[in-house]
Amino acid sequence: MNKKTITYLNKMKKDGEKISMLTSYDSSFTKILERADIDAILVGDSLGMVIQGQETTIPVTIEQIIYHTKCVSDVAERALIISDMPFLSYCTKELALENAGKLIKEGGAHMVKLEGGDDQVNIIQHLTRCSIPVCAHLGFLPQSIHKLGGYSLAGKTTKEAEKLLSDANALQDAGAQILVLECVPSKLAEKITNSLEIPVIGIGAGKETDGQVLVLYDALGISINKIPKFARNFLKEADGDIHSAILAYVLAVRQKKFPNSENILA
Ligand code: KIV
Repeated sequence: MNKKTITYLNKMKKDGEKISMLTSYDSSFTKILERADIDAILVGDSLGMVIQGQETTIPVTIEQIIYHTKCVSDVAERALIISDMPFLSYCTKELALENAGKLIKEGGAHMVKLEGGDDQVNIIQHLTRCSIPVCAHLGFLPQSIHKLGGYSLAGKTTKEAEKLLSDANALQDAGAQILVLECVPSKLAEKITNSLEIPVIGIGAGKETDGQVLVLYDALGISINKIPKFARNFLKEADGDIHSAILAYVLAVRQKKFPNSENILA
């Protein structure tokens, strides 16, 4: 069976097919996601919140992400596996390369994800020069929660929107191969998606991005925290059957039925 490589996802964008992504942190859920033909799996640092019960993603360590990535990569068959670089694990080029290398070589990830705008250009250039594929993450940045002062929609003012658009292009030019866009107004997300060649995966960014990602526990309604407005409880809709819930998510993304008007932030 063909692997869902970055070439495969690029073709999906070109053909206008929506890309489905969910987080996973263990083998059992990964198998369920694979059975539903998920396109990409994110071993997100959201595991700090949904697995460890922390308030933020900040305490998560590189060793923990490596461990969970290995749990996922050992059983994943087709999906592209993206692993989060945790807080403070990519502050310098040397540190970023060492840690990203561990996620790929020890964890079995295909790509690493890091948060930030044009301030990450040097890091991304360094990683991609060393053949480490990078997924960028713009908009609301969970690892900067203390700097930002709380959860909020990013890119609300014209100035902020222009900055996000130019950052997105800078990240692509630096070599990022996927962009995750979190909590951004739909119109802005659409503009960014249309201006980039790389796939743009949204979370709380409307339905015009090239694909969608959710924290798995939000999509199943089992998160410790309140489910965000941009998520939907697919488990409830599937009468408690996890396999059907995941399949429903993948189909809803493919058929552009998720997100719907109730999930749109702005
Ligand atoms: O850590 C994570 O799960 C993420 C998603 C919210 C995109 O970064």
